[in-house]
Amino acid sequence: MTPDRLATSSRRTAKPKVTQQADVEAKSAARRHSTAKAVQPNDRATAARRLCRVLGRGDSLDSVLRRTESPFCLELIHGCLRHYFSLSAALDALLERPLRAKDLNVYCLLLVGAHQLQRMGVPAHAAVNETVAAVRPLGKPWAAGLVNGVLRRLPRTPMAMDEHPPWLRQKIQDQHPQQARALLAANNERAPMSLRVNRSRMAPEQFQQALRRAGLGFAGAWLPESIILDKPQPAETLPGFEQGWFSVQDVGAQLVGDLARKQLRNGSRVLDACAAPGGKLFHLLESRLELEAVALEASSRRLAVLEKIAQRLGHRQFKALAADATRWDCRRPFDFVLVDAPCSGTGTLRRNPDIKVNRTAAQVAQATLLQERLLKNLWRMVRPGGNLLYCTCSMLAEENDQVVDAFIQASADAQPRRITLPTGQATRLGWQMLPTERATDGFYTALIAKQP
Ligand SMILES: C[S@@+](CC[C@H](N)C(=O)[O-])C[C@H]1O[C@@H](n2cnc3c(N)ncnc32)[C@H](O)[C@@H]1O
Repeated sequence: MTPDRLATSSRRTAKPKVTQQADVEAKSAARRHSTAKAVQPNDRATAARRLCRVLGRGDSLDSVLRRTESPFCLELIHGCLRHYFSLSAALDALLERPLRAKDLNVYCLLLVGAHQLQRMGVPAHAAVNETVAAVRPLGKPWAAGLVNGVLRRLPRTPMAMDEHPPWLRQKIQDQHPQQARALLAANNERAPMSLRVNRSRMAPEQFQQALRRAGLGFAGAWLPESIILDKPQPAETLPGFEQGWFSVQDVGAQLVGDLARKQLRNGSRVLDACAAPGGKLFHLLESRLELEAVALEASSRRLAVLEKIAQRLGHRQFKALAADATRWDCRRPFDFVLVDAPCSGTGTLRRNPDIKVNRTAAQVAQATLLQERLLKNLWRMVRPGGNLLYCTCSMLAEENDQVVDAFIQASADAQPRRITLPTGQATRLGWQMLPTERATDGFYTALIAKQP
């Protein structure tokens, strides 16, 4: 069964009953616990169910994970997606014929078993026996012999692969020829966990002391408010989570937020046009400047998440609107417009390995059209002499410089401004950070001034 056949054959099928039941259980459990034990009895079956939704329905990894997932279960899910291409190639070579689409959960369980054997160092007897046992909670007892047979024959050494789909590998090689090898490798690393201290609640030094008192190791990054933890752990278990002392945010995103903040002064009227979940908006509100801020977000579900986070962090000084920023209109122009555009997310593959499996080149082209429409409409909202900051978490030029270039060509009053950030590299019209730096995901940003 090739990855392509697997992904397309079973996508958009009805949600399996077993998954609905698991969702109900997980949600009610999530109400009782905020963090989970290291290993839980049904981890392998749970991991197979979550993978089934990502591979079968194209759901995002973020949307299928529950707060109750144990660290072991999370490693199974992330690892299977991170190494999907080599794991599935090894399994496909052993399967006599493809599994039926309705047995995708069995295939996902095979991935879970293969990952334990090839990458996690779980002793073979435990990996095989426990994975075989997981066919029962999945409602597929007939598959015990199949899972047992395939896992026992599976080579213990992983296939040497870069774990990217061909279309994305090609784009990375074409667009980043010098760094392509390092980038492909970096995309399979684990991203560090980074925090942004909420400076409207406390000084960065105070938060650092709280981390030290809790015995947690960390390093600083380029901004005083940036913290990189030595070891990731659930945010709820860190000091001051409920009190809103910090946010979890990639350091690259923080550098973009800092660049935005440098364009503002007291009284600036600011529009964040694609705001949820609010990371960059809240960074600006933590700047101690008096701002008149408006946050737009097309998804009311995501806007609700933004508002909940705002409550935890204690941010009230902004107006939130559910609106489509490609059509939204406002009579009073803004001094500064932030367009943190929806994109392929190809700069965040370390955190979102599902993107490697589910994203297609056609979706990237679709995203580009949306980015162009966003810029075109939002430019009208920038006052003459004001600025627009465009950013994506993509490493692909068609969503970055090429979008900005087309926009500038079509807008006589748009002038790109030179920017320099402490990490990454200049592009023709903006700045690109890449995950090869390790501390940051891949972010692109460009600053455009409107002629007075
Ligand atoms: C990259 S995320 C923004 C991240 C956010 N700025 C932050 O720092 O946390 C892009 C957001 O744009 C929203 N979006 C997509 N299309 C939109 C549109 N036409 N108008 C407004 N928001 C849109 C998405 O729902 C998503 O929440």
